[in-house]
Parts: sequence; structure tokens; C-alpha cells
Amino acid sequence: MTTATAIAHANIALIKYWGKRNKALNLPATGSLSLTLNALTTQTTVSFSDDLAADQIELNQQSLSTQTSAQRISDFIDLMYQTIHGSLDNTDQQRPYAIIRSNNNFPTAAGLASSASGFAALTMAVNGALNASLDNAQLSMLARRGSGSAARSIFGGFVEMSYGQREDGLDCIAHPLQPAEHWPLQLLIAITDTGIKKISSTDGMQSTTDSSPYYSAWVEGAETDLSDAREAIANRDFDALATVTEFSTLKMHASALAAQPGVIYWNAATLAAMHCIRQLRSEGIPVCFTMDAGPQVKAVCTEQAVEQVSQALRSIPGVVDIIHSTLGPAAYLQESH
Ligand code: PMV
Repeated sequence: MTTATAIAHANIALIKYWGKRNKALNLPATGSLSLTLNALTTQTTVSFSDDLAADQIELNQQSLSTQTSAQRISDFIDLMYQTIHGSLDNTDQQRPYAIIRSNNNFPTAAGLASSASGFAALTMAVNGALNASLDNAQLSMLARRGSGSAARSIFGGFVEMSYGQREDGLDCIAHPLQPAEHWPLQLLIAITDTGIKKISSTDGMQSTTDSSPYYSAWVEGAETDLSDAREAIANRDFDALATVTEFSTLKMHASALAAQPGVIYWNAATLAAMHCIRQLRSEGIPVCFTMDAGPQVKAVCTEQAVEQVSQALRSIPGVVDIIHSTLGPAAYLQESH
């Protein structure tokens, strides 16, 4: 039995990834830029054994609920095994099965990037359990195959994901842009619904790509947004970052809303939180919003603004909880033997 445990943190994109240029290889149509979050972690242990007849997968102490999600994880481990050990075309070269135990310290599949931290932690743990020595760029490329945003959770602080030029995706990798210490931004996540989201990000982006008349405009604007965000981060210019962050998230949602049928992730409290954040900013408080494929609102602010923003969000009807996070570190191997 060879075992490894890895920790990875969720991340939140300021410049969003929404749409794929290659579905099979999970290649994004645009680059993206994110913050890795200290407070949202996944811990995953992978133990390979020759005595197992199938993979055994547990998420948050429960056997994985659907066959599709279990298959997605087994397929991903197949892919990693093939990458590390060469092709498994030779059918008698079956990989050993594994026990996989993964725990999130935050709601799963609720638009809080659990697939990002989940696949990043799984990638690290499989690498450790197989005694492989893939570097972070290779791990990022592999994590992307599990979930596009997972490629970014391999790194800490401010992270950029390149959409890459190559058809095979070998240059479609995330890289660290600035360490967390560069600018100690804070995140306050207003939870407006703890249920499982109704439309997964994969389905939402597919439907946007296939049917939204705004999809091409969304893709065309991404490079400019990325360069504006890079510059704002380099200069620690909050107003510039707020402008481009809200621009990116609103364009992503606008393109999804215009799909047929429209993909609507927001509820009444989502919208109220957005207005509240805009009001605070108009009063001079450095805060802006971003939302993903779910109804939670993520407020990005400076250290000094945390208390005020937190209080204002808490008073909104429908906001059931607030999670506070600082910027977090890269994914790491906790133990392996
Ligand atoms: O990694 P996925 O396939 O769950 O897609 C993530 C999509 C967004 O969270 C909406 C945006 C992003 O860049 O994280």
C-alpha cells in the first residue's frame, strides 16, 4: 500500500474562465486570473493497493453519491497513472485501485470552487502516492483535466492561467503571478444558498458556448481584462482591480443569461449583496464583487474594510453565513509513505 495526503485551497477567479476551446482535453477558451483562498481547503488521501477490486471513493465521509462523479475521479486517476507510467494500452497492465478519501471544510458543489481544491488536492496526492516527481507546472496541467479552475489551485496567492496556443494543451498551465504577501486582499463570501447548484459550471458554460449570442464578445474581451487585472495587481490599484473584476463577472453572467435556455445562477440575496457592495464602494470603501456558477457573492476588499463589509453583508435578508478568507498558499503534500 502506498499512501499520500495532500492539501489544496479553493480559488476565486477575478478574471473568469467560462467556455472551452477543446472539451476532451478541457482546454479553456480564455485565460483567467484568481486568488487562492486560505480558508477553503480540501484534504485528500489516496492509498493504492493491489488488494482492491475497484476504487473506493469517499467525499466528506460518505461514499460518493453518483456513479458519474465516481467515474470522473477514477478516469482522472487513470489519466495520471498513464502520464506517470506510460500508456496503459497493453490491457494486462491494469493500474492498482485506490482508496480515496477527500474532505472539504466548506459546502461542496455550491459555487465555492470545491472542484478546484478537490482536483488540485487529488492531483498532488496521486503524485505522492505513486512516488512520482511531477513538477508544479505538470501537476497544474493534469489538474486542469479534472476541472479547469483546479489548475490554478496548485499555486498560492495571485495566479494566472494561460489558455495556451497548442492543440495538445501542453502549454495550458497556471503560474503564480504574485505571492499572497504582495497585497493582502481579503475575501468575504456571502452564502445565500447552501444547496447543491442546479446547473454545473460544465453544463452552464457548454450551453453558453453553444447558444449565447454574447459568447464571442465574452471571449474577445478576455485578453484586455487580463492585462488590466495584471497591471492593477502589480500597482496594488484597488479601483482598477474592482472595475475589471466586476466587468469580468458581469460579462460572464450576461453571456450565460443570454444562452438558450438562459442560465441563471443568482437569487434575490445575490442581487441585494451586489447592490450593497456597489453602495459601500460609492462611499469610499474598497470592496468589489464577483460571482461564479452559483448564487454566492464573493466580496474582495482590503484588510481595513473587512469589518464594515462583513456587517453590511450580514444584514442582508437571505445571506445565511459569511466566510472570511485571506489569500492562501500553494497546494502541498502533507505526508506520504
Ligand atoms: O473549473 P470549473 O469547470 O468548475 O469551472 C469554473 C468556472 C468558474 O468558477 C465560474 C470561473 C472560474 O474561472 O473559476
